[in-house]
Order: sequence, then structure tokens, then C-alpha cells
Amino acid sequence: MPTQFTGWDEFRKQPLESKLKTFEKNSQLFDLIFARQLTRTGCEALFLLAEKIRAIAKTKDGLDWLGSTHSDRRAMLFFTQPSTRTFLSFLNACQILGIQSSEIRDRNTSSEVKGESPEDTIRTFSSYVDLIIMRSSEEGYAEKSAWLLNQTKRPIPVINGGSGKDEHPTQALLDLYTIQRAFRKGNRPGIDGKTVVFVGDLKRGRTVRSLAWLLGNYSGLNVVFAAPEPFQIRADIQEHLKSSGVSFSLTDEFKEILPSADVIYMTRIQDEYDVTGESTRVDFSKYHFEERDLALLKQDAVLMHPFPRRREIDVACDQDPRAAYWKQERNGMWIRCALIAQILGRAPLILAHE
Ligand code: NCD
Repeated sequence: MPTQFTGWDEFRKQPLESKLKTFEKNSQLFDLIFARQLTRTGCEALFLLAEKIRAIAKTKDGLDWLGSTHSDRRAMLFFTQPSTRTFLSFLNACQILGIQSSEIRDRNTSSEVKGESPEDTIRTFSSYVDLIIMRSSEEGYAEKSAWLLNQTKRPIPVINGGSGKDEHPTQALLDLYTIQRAFRKGNRPGIDGKTVVFVGDLKRGRTVRSLAWLLGNYSGLNVVFAAPEPFQIRADIQEHLKSSGVSFSLTDEFKEILPSADVIYMTRIQDEYDVTGESTRVDFSKYHFEERDLALLKQDAVLMHPFPRRREIDVACDQDPRAAYWKQERNGMWIRCALIAQILGRAPLILAHE
């Protein structure tokens, strides 16, 4: 397939740290592709902005005003991998900010079926819109799209809404925001010093990978990765936590840690990525949170799940005040409003609202 853009293979091979500048503009976040682009200060600024947006959105006047802040902007939601929450929360975030959006959710409805290259498809979007939000089962596609657009005369930001088994930076952001909010009151505020337990398919769960990466920005944490051995967290995340001074351990049991856990992050088996039926060889029922497990939890613990859920958390737990997954979804919409406003340069306008 002919391509107008050369240099991708060389760029792709460079160490990630040296590439990050490519995704910034005037030292500000431009494309959000990797969790590691989010610093602690950057996340905290987004949390504050999200709180401001929530406060403004409480009245009709406020919501009408928010809808005027980006009414000159358009977004493309290019989601070629199934999605309910991420798609809806980005779409609704766009609507709150007054951004008009278009969407493609199935490659078979785009001209790629006529043989158009993915590069031409992405570049086409930039002829119409000011922002691309994308999800793909292909690792590296969001990165490539952003890299490619940054070389054109009309570079527009790309936000990664999930790239294969690799990264889901905006989910990590909303998860962190949920933890920070859950502990904003009480005598143990903040994320520092907490015990965070990840449970499930940690090898292929991109939400776990991105959130665990961001935990490297915090101190005094105790992180526990509970998974069957073939689905344990990969070495790159372990190395990052080691070099960030975060203490962590690996186990195949999670129930015994529950009494000391502050955050329990349950995940499903990512069997869509199976190559030889590997998930069918593991008994995952051991990694289910049952109603009786609530009795083991601290009073202020936070039970999370990025969803979709199968049987990882018994629905009987849903009414417990520590079940945070529904709040997690709603937090996702507000923090995505904040992220979009930040990337499109309108954060100061919103922060200045009386
Ligand atoms: C997750 C995803 O797509 O990675 N869902 C989400 O975005 N909230 C988790 C999953 O699919 O298991």
C-alpha cells in the first residue's frame, strides 16, 4: 500500500520516553496516547477542572454556558472496537461542551473496505473535524494516527480511547479521579499511602496496565497484583513501579488481602485476545468478588471495575456504599470533559467562569 508518510518504522522503534515530545504542543498535552503522558500535576489539574465543570453543570444556565464553550469545534469518534461506556462518555462529554460529533463504529462502513489505507482514512477525518477520539484493537494505531497527523498541515489532536491489549489512558485517568474523589473526605485523604489490589486478567487488561502505570506517580502505595500466573501483570509495568519506588507484590490469591485493601480493582478475562484458547484453561471463579466478601472490606474501601462485568462482582454488591463502579462511569464523563477542554485550550475559559 503506497503511503505519503515515511519514517513511521523508525519512529515506532524509538524508546517511548524520547517520542513523547511529538505528542505535545508548546509543552502542553496535544495528543493523549499513553498513560505516561499524564503527570501527577497534570492529573490534579484535570481533577480540579472536572470539579469546576460539574459545579457549573448543576444549573440549566451553567449547562447552557458549557455548551457554548466549544460550539465552534467538531470531533470524530472513530471506534472500530466494541465499546459502550467509553464511547458514550466521550460522546456525552462532547455534547456537554457543545462539540458536534461524527462517528464511525465499524470499519465495514468506511472506505477502508474499498481499499483505502488507514493513513488516508485518518487524514480524511482531519479534513472535517478538530479532534479525533479513537479506539482500536490494534496496538500502536492511535500512536501512528497522531504521529501521522502531526506531520500534516492540519494537525488535530488524537485521544486514545483504548488501543488493543496495551493502553487505555483515559480510563486510567477516570479511575484515578474516582479513587481521589472517594478519599477526598475523611481522615485518610488522597491516593498516597493506599493499598490497591488489582484482580483478574492483568496481562491483557489495558485499563489495569494504564492505571498501574499512573500509580507510579504516587508515594507510600502498596500495590498487589492478584491473577492466575499466565495472566499476571507484565514485566514493563513491574519495572516501572520498581523504578518509581512503589512497593508491589504478585499473588494468585486475593481474598486474604481484602481486609487491608483500600481499593479493589476487579477485571474480566480478556478472552477476545486468546490465541490458543488460553483463558479456557484457567478457573477464573476464584477471582470473583462475592457478596460475603463485603464483610471483609474496610468501611471506606472502594470497589471498582472498569466494566463490562461478567461475574467478577456479584450484583448483590451493587447497593453497598463501597461499590464505586457506577460512580466510576459518571466520573468518566466529567473527567473526559475536562481532558477535551484542556486539549482544545479552553480550560482557562472554564476555570474563569464565575
Ligand atoms: C475496558 C476496555 O475496553 O478496556 N472497558 C472500558 O473501557 N471501560 C475493560 C474491558 O473491556 O474489560
